Amino acid sequence: MSKSQSPMEKIVSLCKRRGFIYPSSEIYGGIGGFWDYGPLGVELKRNVREAWWRDMVTGHDDTVVPPEAPTAYAMVGLESTIIMHPQVWKASGHFDLFYDLFVDCRTCKARFRADQVDGGSCPRKPSKRPGEHDDCDLTDPREFNLMFKTYVGALLDPTAEAYLRPETAQGMFVNFKNVLSTSRVKVPFGIAQIGKSFRNEITPRNFTFRSREFEQMEIEFFCSPESSQDWYTYWRDRRVAWYEALGLQSDRLRLREHGPKERAHYSCGTADIEYAFPFLPEGEFGELEGVSHRSDFDLRSHMEGKLVREGDDLVVERDEHGQPRHPGSGKDLSYFDDAAQRKYVPHVIEPAAGADRMTLAFLCEAYAEDIIPDEKGVPQERIVLKLHPRLAPTKAAVFPLIKKDGHPEIAAEIYRDLKSHWNVVYDERGSIGKRYRRQDESGTPFCVTVDSQTLEDRTVTLRDRDTTAQERVAIDDLVGLLRDRLAA
Ligand code: GAP
Repeated sequence: MSKSQSPMEKIVSLCKRRGFIYPSSEIYGGIGGFWDYGPLGVELKRNVREAWWRDMVTGHDDTVVPPEAPTAYAMVGLESTIIMHPQVWKASGHFDLFYDLFVDCRTCKARFRADQVDGGSCPRKPSKRPGEHDDCDLTDPREFNLMFKTYVGALLDPTAEAYLRPETAQGMFVNFKNVLSTSRVKVPFGIAQIGKSFRNEITPRNFTFRSREFEQMEIEFFCSPESSQDWYTYWRDRRVAWYEALGLQSDRLRLREHGPKERAHYSCGTADIEYAFPFLPEGEFGELEGVSHRSDFDLRSHMEGKLVREGDDLVVERDEHGQPRHPGSGKDLSYFDDAAQRKYVPHVIEPAAGADRMTLAFLCEAYAEDIIPDEKGVPQERIVLKLHPRLAPTKAAVFPLIKKDGHPEIAAEIYRDLKSHWNVVYDERGSIGKRYRRQDESGTPFCVTVDSQTLEDRTVTLRDRDTTAQERVAIDDLVGLLRDRLAA
């Protein structure tokens, strides 16, 4: 354990050393804002996605009213394309408004996000802020659209321009009618989607926190205008409880309601679920997920065209000929409510999370250093990832104490048996202490060791990652015991 490393440097170094996360294209020097997930990282992120999908979609019971929910509701999933019709982004407002302001330094050619100049550092003199060094020559802030542009088909002309989606949300809005007419859902219901999004961030930073290619997990929840405020409260609190249930239980997690000035022009309420990532200064939090009350803005935009605020109203933005500046689809996306016998454009509550950010938060929360006795009773420092068992990449590791006397054969038999239930590893390399440390750093909740007593009574030691306590258990009881403890 290096004393000179910051907490974040230690986590980044563990992620590399154990194969959680690598810089993309590293052998070519990497590419800013892109990250690859290694063998353990891919399992961790898959478990994060599966926990979300299971808890929000497939495990949801449409027939009962969940605690604190206004009524029962349905949830369905969707997988839409990354490249969509370019008009989607014009009607949604992304084409005109999805930009950051940046400033360039004419001297050193560095580029900074305008809102980060104050906290940034001059590449020539890192102790100074951009603009403070005598040679700095900063431009005025300019707009930079964050959408990655590409071309569809062989022609590289403006008619073929398209964009990599900067959010998964729009796929759900444009499929609202499809889902309604092809599944048995009625308002209120939610559509969930997990998928890649792309933003050409000016300054990707803080490991995977701000990347250019990342994965989102979004729900668009459609409800009546009258019930929308109650649903907003429900989703906001439900989502915080979800993070807590998966181990973000410290005071590093918080819910922050936006003030009216911070909210988007269409929003009637937005709250961020935030985490005090270790790369942030003491007392600062970074967004994990935003929960927004988006009113009828999205469905109306895709019906009528890009909307702008005029006083209290959202109205279609018009060009000099009085035509919609960015027309919508013209399709009717309103809903006829059988029970109320009336038609309305549903309001939307959107819990929008990032899979990479939450994976990083779970890693940061799980990272711990402690001191435990080794095989000879000598206290040793260890690094351990105390990941929730649902998220742990590997659920158990099986070791033969020695590589002879029948230990490997029994260990392999146990490994194969456990493997049919969970992702389990077999390891016979190095001292037993080193094998435990490897699994502690990987976040594996349990280690099973075969020793000489196993040959006599078919029992093994079961070691708990967090307490390091060991107990003897019968091989025949292992699956049931692990099932109970992994579900706890
Ligand atoms: N549809 C609404 C929407 O996209 P957002 O706050 O821009 O809202 C939602 O994004 C979530 O996506 C964020 O809370 C964050 O977890 C994740 N996210 C956004 N930009 C990201 C980036 N550059 N890198 C990693 N995750 C990002």
